[in-house]
Amino acid sequence: MKKYIIINWKMQKTHNESIDWCIENYAEMKKLADHKEIELILCPSYTALEHINKIFIDTQVKIGAQDCGFKDIGPYTGDVSIISLKDVGCEYCITGHSESRLYHHETVQSVAQKTELIINYGISPILCIGETAQEHIDQRCMQVLKNQLKPVLKKIHHKKISKLLVAYEPVWAIGTGRIPDRETLIDTSNQLIEWFAIEYPQVSFVLLYGGSVDNKTISELNQIDQLQGFLLGRSGLDFQMLKNIVLSCLER
Ligand code: PGA
Repeated sequence: MKKYIIINWKMQKTHNESIDWCIENYAEMKKLADHKEIELILCPSYTALEHINKIFIDTQVKIGAQDCGFKDIGPYTGDVSIISLKDVGCEYCITGHSESRLYHHETVQSVAQKTELIINYGISPILCIGETAQEHIDQRCMQVLKNQLKPVLKKIHHKKISKLLVAYEPVWAIGTGRIPDRETLIDTSNQLIEWFAIEYPQVSFVLLYGGSVDNKTISELNQIDQLQGFLLGRSGLDFQMLKNIVLSCLER
């Protein structure tokens, strides 16, 4: 089974640092991405996308954006069009990351609109969903996930989708070093897969997990067959850590 590894650099590296990292680790990144069992997707800041795409153009490393504008073109100051992202070589685009939902006041409707737009332009969405700590305590996880998914699926279920990646990212696990326990994660994954099969049998998707994936948690996470990949935040900043995670996915 192919494993998807998404490296989300957020706003952690400057433009120059991003380019330097790619040049420095070019050969090893190329080697890792050459493995057919791995899809390695690097998501730097908007400004670095074009340059990084050129650096990796002759490799299997794929480039993704961290977000996009909710319209494809028009008077939307500060937004970046999905058309431009396609122009600079993005094959993937993250949508609905909890940090965008929180800091950019993203709503379930705007996430749905963006996901539809991404699909319309033949790019693969990486749709992030996840419950907050309080929702987790209140045991409302599945309800929250379904509420985040429904508006998106309503818009896209009849479309031809090249690939839909759904990243389950509990908000309380992001950047905290905590991950859900094995049984809970298996149960949530199964419930999501079953719900899709019943409600949207025509939509196929790849289920990923994100939130404190590192070289300590990866061995446990790798044992969960339902997960077809991982979204990395902090551990994607350091090449050695990233390499360990990819190698551990390959060993599985
Ligand atoms: P983390 O971030 O790996 O640093 O927890 C994950 C994410 O925000 O997607």
